[in-house]
Amino acid sequence: MNQSFSVGDIRKKYLSFFSSHDHNVVPSASLVPENDPTTLFTGSGMQPLIPYLLGQAHPKGVRLVNSQKCFRAEDVDEVGDNRHTTFFEMLGNWSLGDYFKNDQLKWLFTFLVDEVGLDPARLYITVFSGDTVSGVLADRDSVSLWQNLFSQKGMEASFVELIDEETGGRLGMQGGRIFAYGPKKNWWSRSGVPENMPAGEPGGPDSEVFYEFVDVEHDVRFGEYCHPNCDCGRFVEIGNSVFMEFIKNKDGSFSQLPQRNVDFGGGLERVVAAANDNADIFSIDVFAGLIAFLEEKSSKKYSDSLYTKAFRVVADHVRGAVFMISDGVYPSNTEQGYVLRRLVRRAVR
Ligand code: SER
Repeated sequence: MNQSFSVGDIRKKYLSFFSSHDHNVVPSASLVPENDPTTLFTGSGMQPLIPYLLGQAHPKGVRLVNSQKCFRAEDVDEVGDNRHTTFFEMLGNWSLGDYFKNDQLKWLFTFLVDEVGLDPARLYITVFSGDTVSGVLADRDSVSLWQNLFSQKGMEASFVELIDEETGGRLGMQGGRIFAYGPKKNWWSRSGVPENMPAGEPGGPDSEVFYEFVDVEHDVRFGEYCHPNCDCGRFVEIGNSVFMEFIKNKDGSFSQLPQRNVDFGGGLERVVAAANDNADIFSIDVFAGLIAFLEEKSSKKYSDSLYTKAFRVVADHVRGAVFMISDGVYPSNTEQGYVLRRLVRRAVR
C-alpha cells in the first residue's frame, strides 16, 4: 500500500461505488439541523433522514448515498488521540425498506477491500449479542454473512462471544475475527441503548468494522487484553451498518418498523488513514496545511510527542469552527454559538 489517498479520492470512490449500485446521491445537510430541535448539530448522516426511515417516501428513492458534515461536541475531550475529531465527514448509505443485511455487508466489504484496497486480514467485525430490554435476539445472520465474505478471500473468520464489553472478557481476541457485544456497543439509536430511547424513536442492532493498525502496541492501561472495542488505538472503527428495523413504543416495548432499513455510517477521515496505512488520522491531507502553519507559527514540531496532542486539538477545533461558521453559526453565549465560542477559546488556549 504505497499510494497515498486524499479525502477527495475516497469520498469520490464511495459515492461512485454506491451510485453504481443504484443509489442516488443526496447533498450534505447543514451542520445546524433544520427540523430537529433535539440536537444542536448534525452528528450523523441519518439525522436528516428520520422521517424517511420511519416510512415517508423520499423524493430520491429507496437507495441513498452521501457524505455528511458532522459535529460531535460529546467527543471534545477525546480529541488529542490518534483517531477522534469533533468535526468529521460521515460516509453514508441507506436502504429505505429496500435491501438489507446481505447486500449491505457484501457491498461494504467489496468497497473496503476491492475498491479502497484494505487488507481483509486487518479487518475485524462486531455484531449484536442480543439484549433483554428491547427483546431483540443476537444477530447470527450477520455472523454467517461475514464468514461467507471472508471465506471468499480464502480466510476462515472465527466467531467469539465476548463476556464483558468493557474489558473484552477474560481472554481478549481468542483468535477471533467476528465478536459479539451487547447494546452499549452494538445497538444504535440517536439516544443510545434501548433503555435511553424515547417513545417513537427508531433504532436497531448494528455491525461495526474495525481496522487493525499493527504498529500500535496494546496498552495495558486500557485493560489486560486487547479486543476490537479496546481504547488503546490498535483497532479503529471505520464503519457501522445499523439494521434499523425497530421502534420504541410508549409502554417501553419494541415493535418492527413498517420497513426494514439500513443506515450505514463510515468515518471518511478514518477510512483515508486506513487506506494510507497510517494510524494517525491527523496525517491525512485535510490537516496537512493546518499542521504546517502551526509548526511555522509555533516553531514546534508536530512529531515532538510533547506537543502532538496540542497540535491535534488546535487543528481539530479550528477546522470545526470554520465549518460551523460557513454554516452560519456566530460565536455567542447560547446554543450552537456557545459551542463555537468554546471551541475557539480552547484552541487559542
Ligand atoms: N447512524 C449510525 C452512526 O452514526 C450509522 O450511520 O454510527
